[in-house]
Amino acid sequence: MNGNIDLQDTEYLQSSPMAAELAFTPSRQTRRIYDILAPLYPVSTLLFHSRAHKEAIAVSGIRNGMRVLEVAIGSGEMFHKLVQANPDGHTVGVDLSPNMAARTQSGSRRAFPDTAAHCQAADARYLPFADGSFDALVCCYLLELLSENDVEDTVSEFQRVLRVGGPLTLILIGQNKSMFNSAYRVCTKVAPAFWGRQVERHIPRVLRARGFNVERDHKVRQIFYPSRVLVARNAEQS
Ligand SMILES: C[S@@+](CC[C@H](N)C(=O)[O-])C[C@H]1O[C@@H](n2cnc3c(N)ncnc32)[C@H](O)[C@@H]1O
Repeated sequence: MNGNIDLQDTEYLQSSPMAAELAFTPSRQTRRIYDILAPLYPVSTLLFHSRAHKEAIAVSGIRNGMRVLEVAIGSGEMFHKLVQANPDGHTVGVDLSPNMAARTQSGSRRAFPDTAAHCQAADARYLPFADGSFDALVCCYLLELLSENDVEDTVSEFQRVLRVGGPLTLILIGQNKSMFNSAYRVCTKVAPAFWGRQVERHIPRVLRARGFNVERDHKVRQIFYPSRVLVARNAEQS
């Protein structure tokens, strides 16, 4: 593996009508939107993400005592589940939005005062951790918000901070419902920095090109909202 992704792997973005726009989606705008929405975001998670979160925890291979990182914690619903599953380990969370990170930090302090859980604001593309710092990494509904290059940089960062053999659990917005896909394309047009665009079908290829082995692949549906849960193992150090 030489770390390069061939053209085939990024074709999806080049062929998408949103490609040019999303290649330049400014993270600053994404951060601002999620900062503003931090107090309301739990409602959306409850309605659309909670079933996939539950499934992801069940298949993630996370055991008590691990060093676990969650990237893009949002308002912390998955982070709380991770802390609960890992009371004697160390659970760390990051989010681009300082308000999301602060909210999740204070919520987990209140709920789990005696556990080692820590959240901070950080960008997934430049994770502030040493190589191989974590036994497991979880990331839900983030890759949709990143440009083509940022998806590559982020997956590469995941690989760098995850120990060899460690599981990476991803949740992506499903692309298996055509009506949902059409509605999502409208959302992308209206507010690309908030909704991003669907990338689910192509992420397994991106993972394989980076040296991850995809071991679990589950589809979950909550109301009309489809999700895909992937567990991939980091086969080599970046
Ligand atoms: C769609 S929400 C998902 C939140 C949560 N993971 C969940 O499952 O409900 C996306 C989150 O990603 C964060 N985010 C966006 N770009 C990011 C980046 N470059 N690095 C870290 N977090 C980012 C946003 O601030 C937001 O909290």
